[in-house]
Amino acid sequence: MDLGLRGRTALVGGASAGLGRASAERLAAEGCRLALWSRGGDALERTASELRRAHSIEVATIAGDAADPATAARVAEEALKALGSVEILVLNAGGPPAVEATRTEPQEWQRSFQLLAITPIQLATLLLPDMRKRKWGRIVSIMSSGIRTPIPELVYSGACRSALAAWLKTISLEVMADGVTVNGVLPGRLDTSRVEWLDNARAERAGTTAEEIRAGLERGIPAGRYGDPDELGAYVAWLCSEPARYQTGTFVPIDGGALRALP
Ligand SMILES: NC(=O)c1ccc[n+]([C@@H]2O[C@H](COP(=O)([O-])OP(=O)(O)OC[C@H]3O[C@@H](n4cnc5c(N)ncnc54)[C@H](OP(=O)(O)O)[C@@H]3O)[C@@H](O)[C@H]2O)c1
Repeated sequence: MDLGLRGRTALVGGASAGLGRASAERLAAEGCRLALWSRGGDALERTASELRRAHSIEVATIAGDAADPATAARVAEEALKALGSVEILVLNAGGPPAVEATRTEPQEWQRSFQLLAITPIQLATLLLPDMRKRKWGRIVSIMSSGIRTPIPELVYSGACRSALAAWLKTISLEVMADGVTVNGVLPGRLDTSRVEWLDNARAERAGTTAEEIRAGLERGIPAGRYGDPDELGAYVAWLCSEPARYQTGTFVPIDGGALRALP
C-alpha cells in the first residue's frame, strides 16, 4: 500500500535507538525527509548516515535533552531550519527511572514531568500552527501501556504520560478540522536497550537473573515474546500516512495482547 508519504517532512524524537529509530526507519523507507532528535552523540549520527545511505533521503540531526526546559524551542527552531516545515511530529524520548511508588521524590517528579509532558507539549504547540495553516499534519506520541494498566515501578512514567495523553486528546478535537491528526501508541514490552535495563534492574531487586525476569514476563504476553521495535515503527508510519487521515484521538496498545481489558 502506498502510504502517500514521499517527500513529507518528519521530526522524530529519541531517534538514535529503539522505538524512535524504528519509527524513523519506516518513515525513511516511505521517502520522508527527516530531522532526528536525541541527546546526540555517535548513535544519532550513525543512525542518520545509515538512513541516508539506505534510502537516499535528506536526514538532519538535532542534539538536545528533553528533560531541559530550554530544549523544545530550540529543537522546533532547528527542525524548521533544516526541513523548512515539520508535517509529521513523532514525540518520543527516553523513559524516567524506576522507583517504588511509595518512595517518589519531588525533584524527580519535576524532571520526569518536563521529559514526558512539558517538552512534548511545548514542541507540539510550537509546530501545530504551521500544520494547521497547511491543512495537513500528523502528531504521533510514543507513550506506554502503563497509562492503561499501571506498572508498579514506573509510576513517574504512567502519571506523567497520562497528563500528556489528556492534552493530546484535548487538542485532537480542535485540530482535526484543519487536517491534523493526533494519536498515541502504547508499547507493552518491545525489545530495546531500555527494556533490557528495566529487566536487569528488576532482576537485581528480586535477586534473580534478567533471563528469568524476561521469561516470566513473556509468559504473561499472549504473543509469548517481547515485540520487535519495527512492529511499533510500522504502526507509527501508518498513523502518519495519507490513508490514516480519519484516525485521530486514539491510543493504541502495541503489546502482543498483554492488556486484558476492552478498550
Ligand atoms: N521499549 C518498550 O517496550 C517501551 C515500553 C513502554 C514505554 N516505552 C517508552 O518509549 C520510549 C522509547 O523507549 P525505547 O525502548 O526506544 O528506549 P531506548 O531504546 O532507551 O531509546 C531511547 C531514545 O531516546 C533518546 N533519549 C533518551 N533520553 C533522552 C532525553 N533526555 N532527551 C532526548 N532524547 C533522549 C535516546 O538517545 P540518546 O541517548 O542519544 O539521547 C534514544 O534515542 C521511552 O520513553 C520508554 O520509556 C518503551
